[in-house]
Amino acid sequence: MVEIAPSILAADFANLQRDIEMLNESEADYIHVDIMDGMFVPNISFGIPVCESINRHAHKPLDVHLMIEQPDRYLEAFRQAGAAILTVHYEACPHLHRTIQHIKELGALPGVALNPHTPVEVLSEILHDVSLVLIMSVNPGFGGQKFIENTYHKVSRLRHMRKEANADFKIEVDGGVNSHNSPLLVNQGADILVAGSFVFGSANPLQTISGLKSFRNL
Ligand code: DX5
Ligand code: ZN
Repeated sequence: MVEIAPSILAADFANLQRDIEMLNESEADYIHVDIMDGMFVPNISFGIPVCESINRHAHKPLDVHLMIEQPDRYLEAFRQAGAAILTVHYEACPHLHRTIQHIKELGALPGVALNPHTPVEVLSEILHDVSLVLIMSVNPGFGGQKFIENTYHKVSRLRHMRKEANADFKIEVDGGVNSHNSPLLVNQGADILVAGSFVFGSANPLQTISGLKSFRNL
């Protein structure tokens, strides 16, 4: 069954504990934590102390998505702040292999994220080193953007590459996920769906999470 990672970026920051407790009660599999530095992306979200506070209340693993330049500088800090998965951007890592090894040494699962314009083929030499590949289905930086349709094709190509290489990372899709595109993404091979505004903007987030989760992998 597809796994769901609601993005805390769309939560009410003045009521974070309440929203985390809601996610604890939900069928969500992870809590997706978006870190933006105002450099790699044109927006600033929050940093290490907030991640620590989220971790203090969360009963689900933290899926930390680092949209920051030179992420090596902060891997240890985010690991200590509770990250179970640490995902860096391909576009921000000139020494990606070394960065991935560092994440493993810290005891977290390493993920690599691709911007919409970056082809999945750039990952061909590190397929066996990562636990997760995050495909951005919007340009990173903001919640609530429109899903980019080309993502289906990328997910399907990545699934094919994984099969050919006999690798076993998970494929995560992040940005503009909703009830229309989620079954299509699952059919193309998505294992984890991130959803921010679709979950937190709905009248009943618990039901919305169950609804997203009820699509099966074919
Ligand atoms: C975008 C972030 C996403 C975002 C998803 O830069 O990486 O995780 O919070 O939000 P929605 O689901 O609203 O597109
Ligand atoms: Zn994200």
